[in-house]
Amino acid sequence: MVTVRDVRAKAGEEPITMLTAYDAPTASIVDDAGVDMILVGDSVGNVVLGYDTTIPVDVEDVARHVGAVSRATDDALVVADMPFLSYGVDETDSLENAGRMLKEEGADAVKLESGPHTVGLTEKMVQLGIPVQAHLGLTPQHVNQYGGFPRQGTDTESAERIVDLAKAHDDAGAFSLVLEHVPSNVAAAVTEAVDMPTIGIGAGPDCDGQVLVFHDVVGLSEWSPSFSKQFGDVRSEMEDAVDGYVSAVEGGQFPEPQHSQEADGIDDLD
Ligand code: KIV
Repeated sequence: MVTVRDVRAKAGEEPITMLTAYDAPTASIVDDAGVDMILVGDSVGNVVLGYDTTIPVDVEDVARHVGAVSRATDDALVVADMPFLSYGVDETDSLENAGRMLKEEGADAVKLESGPHTVGLTEKMVQLGIPVQAHLGLTPQHVNQYGGFPRQGTDTESAERIVDLAKAHDDAGAFSLVLEHVPSNVAAAVTEAVDMPTIGIGAGPDCDGQVLVFHDVVGLSEWSPSFSKQFGDVRSEMEDAVDGYVSAVEGGQFPEPQHSQEADGIDDLD
């Protein structure tokens, strides 16, 4: 079982791997591949539930998928991504929502899209025994504030803000930090400035680890961001299989005799 201590110990020694998963079969594939951390991202909203953004995702959505992933994972550290407004509004609600992911759904840690408002909350969660992964740079729950999904930290002032917030979350006890869609030199500076491992997505090679969305990696997404890479073409495999099924049924080649059995002793049902 990978623990938050293992993740911290690996930083600087070997690259840390993290991938999203949202269901039991993909979690078991990711876990069997030896990935260190599985993130049940609120990207479940775009990737699985058909929303345009992560804004509509709620605690029930994430909880259901965290449960499925945890049940299928033997080794990787399972991180539950806390959805929009499930944290940061009311402290008690935030702690209960995050605690539920560990107590009821089997997660090992939570991720919070971070900002000045999550420093104290991170400290409190860590004190209570809820490991927190921070997330800075492009935080998709701010899509309405950004007016899209632009790269972050592209000028000195905003890059310094990211470094300062990273340090504040490091001091608050976060066990790692996702850095999304920031310039690679900014990610390198953050990695240098903090003790906790940095996990990059669209943040260059100098982070302590990398994270991508499962559906992008296997080539199942219809669209994927320029910073991700497809290591397979699962979408065309699936299309071929479904086309094959449809033509076999329509052409009378499926089902074959071995796909069903008759029951003995039933001669006349009229
Ligand atoms: O929800 C998600 O998948 C994420 C990753 C992109 C880091 O937050």
